[in-house]
Amino acid sequence: MCGIVGYTGARQAVPLLLEGLRRLEYRGYDSAGVALVVEGRIDVHKAVGKIDRLERALGPTQPSGHVGIAHTRWATHGAPNLANAHPHIDCGGTLALAHNGIIENAGLLRAALAQRGHTFRSDTDTEVLAHLIEDLQARGQSFVDAVAGALSKVEGTYGIAVISTREPDTIIAARRGSPLLVAIGTNENFVASDASAVLAHTRSVVYLDDGEIAVVRPHEYRILDVDAVEKEKAVTHVAWDLGTIERGGYAHFMLKEIMDQPESLHNTLRGRLLEDEGTARLGGLNVTDEELLQINRIVITACGTSWHAALIGEYMIEELARVPTEVEYASEFRYRNPIVDARTLVIGISQSGETADTLAALREAKRRGARTLGLVNVVGSTIAREVDGGIYLHAGPEIGVASTKAFTSQIAALALLTLKLGRLRSLSILQGREIVRELVRLPHLVEQVLARAPEVEAVAERLLRAGNVLYLGRGYNFPVALEGALKLKEISYIHAEGYPAAEMKHGPIALIDDLMPVVFVAPRDAVYQKIVSNVEEVKARGGRVIAVVTAGDTGLARLADQRIDVPETLDFLTPILTVLPLQLLAYYIAVRRGCNVDQPRNLAKSVTVE
Ligand code: G6P
Repeated sequence: MCGIVGYTGARQAVPLLLEGLRRLEYRGYDSAGVALVVEGRIDVHKAVGKIDRLERALGPTQPSGHVGIAHTRWATHGAPNLANAHPHIDCGGTLALAHNGIIENAGLLRAALAQRGHTFRSDTDTEVLAHLIEDLQARGQSFVDAVAGALSKVEGTYGIAVISTREPDTIIAARRGSPLLVAIGTNENFVASDASAVLAHTRSVVYLDDGEIAVVRPHEYRILDVDAVEKEKAVTHVAWDLGTIERGGYAHFMLKEIMDQPESLHNTLRGRLLEDEGTARLGGLNVTDEELLQINRIVITACGTSWHAALIGEYMIEELARVPTEVEYASEFRYRNPIVDARTLVIGISQSGETADTLAALREAKRRGARTLGLVNVVGSTIAREVDGGIYLHAGPEIGVASTKAFTSQIAALALLTLKLGRLRSLSILQGREIVRELVRLPHLVEQVLARAPEVEAVAERLLRAGNVLYLGRGYNFPVALEGALKLKEISYIHAEGYPAAEMKHGPIALIDDLMPVVFVAPRDAVYQKIVSNVEEVKARGGRVIAVVTAGDTGLARLADQRIDVPETLDFLTPILTVLPLQLLAYYIAVRRGCNVDQPRNLAKSVTVE
């Protein structure tokens, strides 16, 4: 997501900071900025867009300074514009701060600070930290105490780097939830959110743990624990090459993004669950509860993997919120004569927020008077800007062309919307609370499934030579079967089809023989017994069955040639767990077949043409 780099030493800071930011570019960003301590004042330069623009904004004779911090921002709170780009400064312009993460109580803190006379220049959650530190310094606290004091007031996550005119050679860095490290050079030191930013200069790093604060100067650094007590920390020698670091140590972005899912899901849900009321808080919808109650029909439109998430959304919304819902490929919707009116809610789902067909479908819906919502990952993208309201996925940048973590975050966002709509209509508070509790547990359950990756790898080994694979599921897991098949064809170029399991007997059953592996997505849910009969039908024709089942299942285990277990959860949330082995299966097969999994042939990450 966002990136931080800081430098203190004898060299000119700007070229080193720009170089560091360039190393972090792969994480995705939409604006960038640099702040330096120069002759007793803070000098800030920012630009929207790429680092080249920031370089141009710095001018041909780059500002001179030996201490500075820099940031690439991937917008979460507030549009990607100049005012919202980091670093942010306090009212007096005596300190600058770059932040990764989300300050959840920013609204409250902002209101309190504004009352005390602080003036805000941006819409970001980050800026409150700069003013909080200023406030504490004004009460006589030292730089480090003021930073620690400010951090003690915030809820949420952060990795921060701060500079101040009061201690012009010092960078203070702190971490809770967002990675940060101190990199140790000779008579110079760095801070960075990711080792790749500094690896050209040193391989000795100290990784900060949650709650720790680092005070970094050219010739020394100190690490303080949560109680501000100085502590010794081991220095790690980073042996990885740059490419490996960018991928978090994984061989491919796709695998990294699959493994990111406990965290990306957590980020989608963060701050949105109201356990007492058993509902969801979705601030970006821009619709009142009364208006939501007026909605009498929902159309969800999307492409590719996002369309599969939409199908799961349809099932959820109809079952739990009882609003008639249909799903349409965006490319079809836009050229039909769709029936929508002011009481129709049209939801576009898009990871990139730029898919041309989805954008056009939403524009058409809007033109016809429908209210539009976007479930989008990229903040400030075209769809996010044009819809009436929405839910940001906050899944972090997705770089692998085959969508993985965006998909599970889309399902989670749809679950939040379903919960909100359901609680306004048919769901009781007890049902709402049960759903909230289960959503809270989900990231942990995802972790459990991902820990079984080696088992999936072993299953993959036996599918390497398959020419065709059939994926079958029912109910909520029918779209998962579609998604499993899509993943396999996208990256391994093996022909695969997804089908509703019972529909198999109307055609695909003709394909089944001992060379045709059939993947059943069959957790123990309302349609479990039905799918057991479908498995029997495949076995009776000599088919090879791989089954994704609920841990402890014995019925299917008896029939399946190979099984992959997932933990139990509510029926409508099972897709978030059952899709994980299918993502891994496609990944391992593609890697073993020598395919370029991050950049599969003929495919694009963001399809901005019709
Ligand atoms: C492309 C990508 C798919 C993605 C689809 C929709 O085809 O390769 O992974 O699902 O576009 O993209 P969106 O950004 O709108 O979700």
